[in-house]
Amino acid sequence: MNEPSAAERYLQDFHQRTAGSTTAAFGGLPATTDGTTYASSYHLLASLIPAHRGALTVVDLACGDGPLLALLSARADADLKLVGVDMSQGELDAARAKLPGHVSLLKERAQALSLETGSVDYVLSHMALMLMDDIDRVFSEIHRVLRPGGTLAFIVGRAFLSGPVKQVYLDVLRPVVHEEGAHVRFGDLRMQSEAGWRSLLAQAFCDVGCQDVDVSWHPTPEEFWESLSTTYDVDRLSPKGRGMLRERLLPALAAVQDDDGRIRTGWSQRLITARAA
Ligand SMILES: C[S@@+](CC[C@H](N)C(=O)[O-])C[C@H]1O[C@@H](n2cnc3c(N)ncnc32)[C@H](O)[C@@H]1O
Repeated sequence: MNEPSAAERYLQDFHQRTAGSTTAAFGGLPATTDGTTYASSYHLLASLIPAHRGALTVVDLACGDGPLLALLSARADADLKLVGVDMSQGELDAARAKLPGHVSLLKERAQALSLETGSVDYVLSHMALMLMDDIDRVFSEIHRVLRPGGTLAFIVGRAFLSGPVKQVYLDVLRPVVHEEGAHVRFGDLRMQSEAGWRSLLAQAFCDVGCQDVDVSWHPTPEEFWESLSTTYDVDRLSPKGRGMLRERLLPALAAVQDDDGRIRTGWSQRLITARAA
């Protein structure tokens, strides 16, 4: 494994402490794209792997605790060779505990994969590529391990929270983050727009497709706080900062609660697909 950067060291520490937090956030929320609703955004990615098409090697890059691999292994298709890659030992330990032994798990950085050149049919990735340093190197590694014509399909964040609660949350969060100087940045500007992702893929991939995915979420204020408190922004705050944020947030949420006490919001994602040229 190459030396991790400061952002990667933070991610490793975070995921050691909070393994499974991404699955907890997205695993139970329906995801809609192009008029079709899937049980979750993991189900959407899994649906891209065809059934019974002969031997296929599928890699889940930055697999976390393995929810996508769990969906694919539940197909009990002996022709599917499943491999998970992640740099977090905590997430990989959680994945190992719940996945069958035939799913291989590799602890490595996406920038330096040990997989053989041209050995993979599909590379999938859920909510991870937008966090990565040196994304050019990551795409070059993905291209190297895919067989010519192999498929890359990944979901990344498009926008943080939807509906009126977004502004309420940001208005409360920003001053606290500013006071503590705790902001954390991942990736680069190209990972924030469709045009940026397309430019990153342009050189080595063809048939690039990009579609919006909308994930619905109707939490109570307490559920909202529970989930948001495991985001990187809030995790970086001191206990005092987190306490202050919670104290200010819960009353502010009253303005955006529906009659049933819940908040109508969601997460906006992007599904990007491409073939290795
Ligand atoms: C937000 S979590 C998503 C996990 C999983 N894909 C899911 O959606 O449940 C991001 C994951 O990316 C991993 N990760 C981030 N940068 C990485 C890199 N350069 N190489 C390998 N894994 C990385 C983290 O360790 C973490 O498990």
